[in-house]
Amino acid sequence: MILKEEMTIVSQREIATDIFEMVLTGQLVEQMSVGQFLHIRVPDISKVLRRPISICQIDKAKREATIVYRVQGLGTEIFSHLGAGDVLDCMGPQGNGFPIDFLDAGQTALLVGGGIGVPPLLELAKQLYAKGVSVTAVIGFASKDVVILEQELAQFADVIVTTDDGSYGTKGYVSTVIDTFKNESDAVYACGAPGMLNYVDQKFEKHPHAYLSMESRMACGMGACYACVVHVKDADESKSLRVCEDGPVFATGTVLQEMRKG
Ligand SMILES: Cc1cc2nc3c(=O)[nH]c(=O)nc-3n(C[C@H](O)[C@H](O)[C@H](O)COP(=O)(O)OP(=O)(O)OC[C@H]3O[C@@H](n4cnc5c(N)ncnc54)[C@H](O)[C@@H]3O)c2cc1C
Ligand code: FES
Repeated sequence: MILKEEMTIVSQREIATDIFEMVLTGQLVEQMSVGQFLHIRVPDISKVLRRPISICQIDKAKREATIVYRVQGLGTEIFSHLGAGDVLDCMGPQGNGFPIDFLDAGQTALLVGGGIGVPPLLELAKQLYAKGVSVTAVIGFASKDVVILEQELAQFADVIVTTDDGSYGTKGYVSTVIDTFKNESDAVYACGAPGMLNYVDQKFEKHPHAYLSMESRMACGMGACYACVVHVKDADESKSLRVCEDGPVFATGTVLQEMRKG
């Protein structure tokens, strides 16, 4: 069920260059599932469209949710100037989220994150760890100054960091590390840039439980306008899926590569 609420900002801080962590409180938190997102109105009269931001952490007991976002354009820049006590008009929680019910204690999961795609993997790691699943997270960044959530993930997972320029962790893309793994995990989850998702999609195309969390430009964010469609693999052109409503999480091998948008 999609709800709308003026959520109150509990805190906000810059955790890396131009990347902010914001804690929000409100009743919407009670409805949230791992891998969903909030559709947030920019508190500026000239900004009509809401901005979709993934839910990074959920604390139902405290009724708090954390989001982590990078300042991309004017909307996210306005978010970055807000502080404790300010309110944000939020719709959600939206999207299908990551499926985790099929995993049992003792099984293994591989989490693959790239840049600002890492935040939704933190709550995922937390919930998998709580189920007794053994979690490995391979997270890739452009360089050391934009590495985020490594310590937080390390509470629940074995974490391997890669940077494109080698300024921290293993030099190269996440594929540099994943291609060396001998055993296949029982589940694979990925969120990040289109190039990284394409890699995971191809590598784990036939895996029974491999999932990609995708991005797409959104308007309504609730399934009505079809602004966010992606096309389905092995289907005629008329067959499409809405990232906001049918996704943002899709099984590998589901969505056509060339239709993906960043
Ligand atoms: C399901 C989903 C989850 C996301 N989660 C996160 C997150 O956790 N952290 C984070 O930093 N970013 C996330 N994004 C990307 C984020 O929505 C955009 O960076 C943000 O909307 C940019 O807004 P802006 O006004 O700052 O930039 P502008 O460039 O001014 O945005 C202009 C318009 O384009 C849209 N837009 C721009 N970039 C994107 C994009 N990559 N995806 C979708 N719409 C975009 C905006 O919503 C807006 O309507 C997510 C996107 C989606 C679809
Ligand atoms: S944004 Fe309107 S249908 Fe997805």
